Amino acid sequence: MERTFLMLKPDAIQRGLVGEVIGRFEKKGFKLVGLKLIQVDRALAEEHYKEHKGKGFFEPTVQYIMSSPVVAMVWEGKNVVAIAREMMGATNPANANPGSIRGAYAMDISRNVIHGSDSVESAEREISLYFKPAEILHYAKAGEEWLSE
Ligand code: GTP
Ligand code: MG
Repeated sequence: MERTFLMLKPDAIQRGLVGEVIGRFEKKGFKLVGLKLIQVDRALAEEHYKEHKGKGFFEPTVQYIMSSPVVAMVWEGKNVVAIAREMMGATNPANANPGSIRGAYAMDISRNVIHGSDSVESAEREISLYFKPAEILHYAKAGEEWLSE
């Protein structure tokens, strides 16, 4: 089954949005298979955002992600990578649909509540950055038979 890496950024934890945001993915029907509260160090932050190295927002983004704890998660489900990105909304909350997470809960591109992998390949890379294989769990979830045939 497809997996994605989602991370609640420091603003989500500081603003008390953890339950709110996790609840959206739970209610959609996706399965939580990995979860931890962590403090990101510089090496991990730079590796995470390496595609943006050289851009003006790279250093502030790295600094920000290290500034306070984050919630790292792995979610599983059909087309979860693309659907989670839709649920998150546009990178800049000013352009995000108000029904999306960023549209509902954020105002500024540098404080946009959540990170989500942008492709299946990115998801595999990011999951392995943040999680050891044994930290991703396999289990049957009650009610799965009510979500799809
Ligand atoms: P993530 O899920 O966080 O990776 O967002 P994204 O994939 O929608 O955006 P992208 O990977 O292009 O950028 C990563 C993060 O860098 C964004 O979530 C923003 O917080 C930040 N960022 C991107 N573009 C800008 C920008 O133009 N200005 C500022 N200040 N931050 C930016
Ligand atoms: Mg991105």
